[in-house]
Amino acid sequence: MKPATVRPFEDDDLAGAAEALTAVHASDGYPVEGIDDPKAWIRSADVLAAWVAEADGQIVGHVSVMRAYGEDAVAFWTEQSGEPATHVAVLARLFVVREARKQALGERLVQAAVSHARAHGLRLVLDVMTKDRSAMRLYERLGWREIGRASHRYGADQSIDAVCYVSPDA
Ligand SMILES: CC(C)(COP(=O)(O)OP(=O)(O)OC[C@H]1O[C@@H](n2cnc3c(N)ncnc32)[C@H](O)[C@@H]1OP(=O)(O)O)[C@@H](O)C(=O)NCCC(=O)NCCS
Repeated sequence: MKPATVRPFEDDDLAGAAEALTAVHASDGYPVEGIDDPKAWIRSADVLAAWVAEADGQIVGHVSVMRAYGEDAVAFWTEQSGEPATHVAVLARLFVVREARKQALGERLVQAAVSHARAHGLRLVLDVMTKDRSAMRLYERLGWREIGRASHRYGADQSIDAVCYVSPDA
């Protein structure tokens, strides 16, 4: 068995990434709002760059860097830092299928996004639902810092608690 790789997303990865996302939604309820169209959710027009984790020819993980678009984390960080929103991007769509977890693929995906953002003069922020404990542990282990709390609204009238983080200084 070849070691898993983390590499930039290619167009041919879309079907595999959508399949992995569907599996993660079934196992973890991520994202909470559900996914009517997994391919469109992964390839949103706001995606600036994306990476996948691949093991034995299968896409087992994904992350993207997305344009800042009014997220609570962006508002917290621009207010606290005085930086314009044009210098901020959002780490999003991070997932690894259950069978491939605890091999540092989540860590490598986050580090790929952070390195890319630094190279482009962007500071990354994100929000994570408080139910997604392993994701929160991962961000904190990698030096991300809490910058605020928010309530994520979805569906007709549902809401769930979220924590906003900023990536560590270079
Ligand atoms: C969050 C998520 C991406 C983490 O993926 P992952 O590939 O398991 O992440 P890592 O392997 O880097 O780290 C996970 C754990 O494995 C441990 N680990 C990493 N490499 C290891 C190894 N070689 N041997 C044993 N343990 C290892 C880490 O220390 C970490 O432990 P902890 O959870 O006790 O803190 C994954 O759990 C997931 O997809 N969750 C559902 C979706 C989600 O919540 N997304 C976040 C949205 S904001």
